Amino acid sequence: MYLVAGTSKLTCKGREAAAICRPQGSDAVVAHCWYRRKREATPGAERRRSTVKAEVPVTTTDERVLWVDAPSRKYPIIFRNKPSLHDSELFAPHISGNSVLIVTNETVAPLYLHRLREGLSRCPQVDRVEECILPDGEEYKTMDSLRAIIDVCMQKRLDRKSTLFALGGGVIGDLTGFAASVFLRGIPFIQVPTTLLAVVDSAVGGKTGINHPLGKNMIGSFYQPHAVIVDASTLKTLDPRQISAGIAEIIKYGLICDEEFFNWCERNVSKMVSLSPGAIQYAMERSCQCKAAVVAADERESSGYRAILNLGHTFGHAIEAATGYGTWLHGEAVAAGMVMAAEMSRRLGFIDEQVVRRIEAILTEAALPVRPPPSMNVETFLTYMAMDKKVERGVLRLVLLERLGKAIVTANYERQVLVDTIEYFRRLYQEQPENYERRLAHLRPK
Ligand SMILES: NC(=O)c1ccc[n+]([C@@H]2O[C@H](COP(=O)([O-])OP(=O)(O)OC[C@H]3O[C@@H](n4cnc5c(N)ncnc54)[C@H](O)[C@@H]3O)[C@@H](O)[C@H]2O)c1
Repeated sequence: MYLVAGTSKLTCKGREAAAICRPQGSDAVVAHCWYRRKREATPGAERRRSTVKAEVPVTTTDERVLWVDAPSRKYPIIFRNKPSLHDSELFAPHISGNSVLIVTNETVAPLYLHRLREGLSRCPQVDRVEECILPDGEEYKTMDSLRAIIDVCMQKRLDRKSTLFALGGGVIGDLTGFAASVFLRGIPFIQVPTTLLAVVDSAVGGKTGINHPLGKNMIGSFYQPHAVIVDASTLKTLDPRQISAGIAEIIKYGLICDEEFFNWCERNVSKMVSLSPGAIQYAMERSCQCKAAVVAADERESSGYRAILNLGHTFGHAIEAATGYGTWLHGEAVAAGMVMAAEMSRRLGFIDEQVVRRIEAILTEAALPVRPPPSMNVETFLTYMAMDKKVERGVLRLVLLERLGKAIVTANYERQVLVDTIEYFRRLYQEQPENYERRLAHLRPK
């Protein structure tokens, strides 16, 4: 029942699911309930590992809790299936001071700010609910926005016990977490993710930060939230492109650490795209379990293990930067990047062609691009990839697939294989430009 830091055991079905939770004091009740509910909701859960055809494990309970047991902090991820932002009981246990600041953006504020404000105002210990509404977009993940948050903290005289709430997607989450980590040398913050990508990835694990004009996420900190609170009903207002971008990260978890989950994703991709409740709930929980286990094992990427979460990201970040942030969504660039990483893994003899085709097929079904932009050549890729945070002493470490369900981080490859991989996609475009462009369908105006 206890998660051992450093474990690489990522399968998490039935009885093993409890390994993610570390019962302790009152937490034990929640963790135990989660485990029991999961078993009740999914009869035969223990057998699922061998029952390859098992369909969507339907989750009917309204609230479920997973625990992230990072060395620096242990905190819950609370999933609610019904509208819950107005529910003070959900938030009160995680707030210690009497003032809170909600950070959000101009898109999310009209949709959800009033509900969260209502919920927080009704928490018995809370006297003041302040707000900071930032412009929307990756281009605002900057020092100026950080400064804007800190300005409100100062003007409203927040103190060490005040709590920041990040209400929004990954941009708001990363910015707010960074602000919380530096204001008064660190105050509590709570993630309330409202995009699928933020739920399954950015809200969990404590990477916070902002972009520098010369590189993405170059300034930041490792700083874990005090809780991640997911109101899954907020996902219903997302643009379909944003849902697909989140599914790219879900599929990533199957690829890097859980072949069975990848198989499940293949069977349920259309249900995920339509946000079918049972499927999306299971996908979110399974993804968070994978991320929690990796973060528990290597919170600050010191052993390098955590870097497996970056499958497709080195290629993807190059695509995002070269095309101008926002042209390709992060998840879209990661999808094309994962295909490139898979193709390179094939060239190195790790996986066979059929695995690459399966990866392309599932991403295509999720309406994601499976080719890099035709405008990018070897030189452009290598220039942007050289700025990756995984470059050490001039050598670029890449995340590759050793097999389906297992990623490795390695600098042990011939540079020519990387060049050949990029050139392969260029050639595909030159040979059949129309066919190639069909694989970039996400960029067509709808
Ligand atoms: N910290 C990490 O570990 C980590 C991991 C992955 C990605 N990231 C970062 O996350 C960011 C991407 O996150 P994202 O994909 O959530 O993008 P985002 O935060 O830009 O959100 C996407 C869009 O959806 C809008 N939106 C948010 N919630 C909505 C809702 N419920 N209904 C309607 N619209 C909504 C936003 O206003 C925005 O326009 C990038 O900056 C990336 O670097 C961080």
